[in-house]
Parts: sequence; C-alpha cells; structure tokens
Amino acid sequence: MVQSPQQEAPAYVRKPAFYDRWMESIGIPIYRDYYIEDGRTLELGFWEERGHPAAFLQLAGQEGVSESRISEIPPGGSIKPYKFALEEIVYVLQGRGVTTVWADGGERRSFEWQEHALFRIPGNHWVEYASMAGDAPVRLLHYNNLPVSMSTVQDPSFYFNSEHKTAADALRSDGDGDGFYAEAKVVENDPGRAGRVRSYWYGNFFPDMRAWDKLVPFKGRGAGGTTVFVQFPGSELTAHMSVFPSKTYKKGHRHGPAFVIVIPFGEGYSVMWPEGKDKVTVPWHEGSIFVPPNRWFHQHFNLAGDPARYLAFHPLPQFTGTGELITDRERDQIEYPSEDPAVRAHFEEELAKRGMKSDMPDIAYQDPKWEWDYTGA
Ligand SMILES: [Fe+2]
Repeated sequence: MVQSPQQEAPAYVRKPAFYDRWMESIGIPIYRDYYIEDGRTLELGFWEERGHPAAFLQLAGQEGVSESRISEIPPGGSIKPYKFALEEIVYVLQGRGVTTVWADGGERRSFEWQEHALFRIPGNHWVEYASMAGDAPVRLLHYNNLPVSMSTVQDPSFYFNSEHKTAADALRSDGDGDGFYAEAKVVENDPGRAGRVRSYWYGNFFPDMRAWDKLVPFKGRGAGGTTVFVQFPGSELTAHMSVFPSKTYKKGHRHGPAFVIVIPFGEGYSVMWPEGKDKVTVPWHEGSIFVPPNRWFHQHFNLAGDPARYLAFHPLPQFTGTGELITDRERDQIEYPSEDPAVRAHFEEELAKRGMKSDMPDIAYQDPKWEWDYTGA
C-alpha cells in the first residue's frame, strides 16, 4: 500500500532520542562537529540551573552513546553542589581547584587537582567544584553514559538531585583502604579473560596525565607507542592514554563509537574516514577533543619535536565487540606496507614545513611484522 504524504508518520518511526531533547532543553551550545579545536577556549553558554558556563559536545563519533560536556568555573568561584545518578570521569583542561564528594548523610571527601588531572565521581553522590585560581577560569571535561541511560528512563528527575540514597560509606568501601582519592596503583588484569594479561592503573585519581610516565608498550599499533590503561575501582568505565614519539605516526585502524579523545600534550593531526570514502583531517594540540565515528578508520600523526599524548575515554563494555583492541588485523587495521603511499608523503610534507624529517624507519614500510624495539620501554 502506498502512503499518501498527508498521513502522519507511524508511531514506530524513530524519534529524536530523549537525551537529545533533554540536552536541547538546557539552552547551552551543543557542538556536533567532528572535533573541537580547543576545549579551553570553546564558546560556552550559561547553564541557568547549574549557575555556570557550559556546553555539550555531541561530536559525530559519540553517536548518542556517551555524553561529554565542558563546564567552566569562574576565577575564584565555584559550582554549587549537585547530585548526579551516574558516575562520571572528569579531566581538567585548564586551571586548578578542589572537588568535594559525598553521599547523602555520608562523610565529605575533598581533593585538590590541577591541569591535566583525571578523576572519577561515583554515581549518586553530591559533588561540588571550587576554583583555586584567581586569574583564569577552570575548564573541566566530563564524560558519562547519560544518553544510553536516558533511553531507558526518560525522566530527568531520576538523574539529578534525586532522593535515591546510596550507602553513606560507599566512598570508603569502594576505595582501596588508602582513601578513595589516593593516587592510582598498578594491577595486573585480564579483563577479556583471553589470556592477555595487561598492566592497568587502578584508582579514582590520576594527578597529571601530561606527566604520567608509567607506561607499557602498545605493540602492534606502530610508532613505538606506549600506553597506560586506566580502570576505576568498582566501575565499568575505563580509559587509556597513548604516548607516541616525535615525528612518527600510528597505524590506521577502526573500532566502535564513543571513544572521546582529548590531547594532554603534543601537536599533530589525525585523519578519520569511512572505508573507501573522503577523509576528515583533525588538527590537534593541547586541549583539542575529537571522536572517531563508529567503524571509521583513523590514524594519528605526531608533528612535534616531543612525544605526543592522547587520552581516550571508553564507551561501556557492551561495546567491547567493537572496542579499541583490534582482533581482526586484516579488516580493522592497515599495516604500514599496505597503506596508501600518500599517507606517508603527506606526513613528510607536513614535517618539512616545520623543518623536520620523519623518524619512521624504511623497514616499517617493507615488513608488516617488523616492530619497534621496546627494550627498556
Ligand atoms: Fe582508535
């Protein structure tokens, strides 16, 4: 049967997700681009109810899976306490300050942070942020899973300042005995139970991702890169930070959506493309934020004289089937000898503009099994 155009769309036609409608109701900017050139200077709007400047980032690659947003604390000011049902990862783009966290009726925990710190706020806890800098605003980048949650419970009052009580000693019992916000410690773990034991850093507080040097080789992704894998106690949220040397680039690869990447340090560019289609170039430096869309290939290039760092917040484990680990290298990763020669040529041109030469060894383009020497890494 042919429908006449006058007929209303049937009820089963997909409507905009509840999260999108809620986000639009807040009245602050929503950025839906491929990337944010600098989260420290991005134009924000005033979130009346919260009483501070903010913006939502619903970048193309987030695909309605994760929320990320930027909030600002004016110099010497604070963000009044609010209670959020979901846990959240926070990265400090700029400034220094103090966070206080507590459950209803529970003990208050405060900790100080500075630029490039990473920490987790547990769900169903009150949180208050205060600036300790009198000269410049603080900028925080938040990451959580509110879009997916709001598809199941379409009621904002369920998430914000709700009366749901959490065990008052959650901060104590969830910690490791040295304090909930003690500095992270290393553990050996095999989360996929696939016999691939990896070193994870475990904790709720990572004081400086720009200086963090406890890294392990990330073999197979090229460029002699090293990584720290991050797990948070009692949480399904995870993250990783990759560091890769000056004048090199990583292998093109693809995986699932919602890996929100922020740059703690470095200068370079990333290229993102759906197989066989046009490429999107993302220039980046400290404070840049971008998200490779679902199943798009992407590749990271370091154009500076120093190692570059990118910190990635991960989607929930339900997405591990399309996760960052490449299980089918034939389909989901492009080895250097197989890549389009234009990739290398463009990289070398960009370096030449800066008076530099590539540190990519010729053999990397000849032998797909060749690996950087990680001795002493
Ligand atoms: Fe990736």
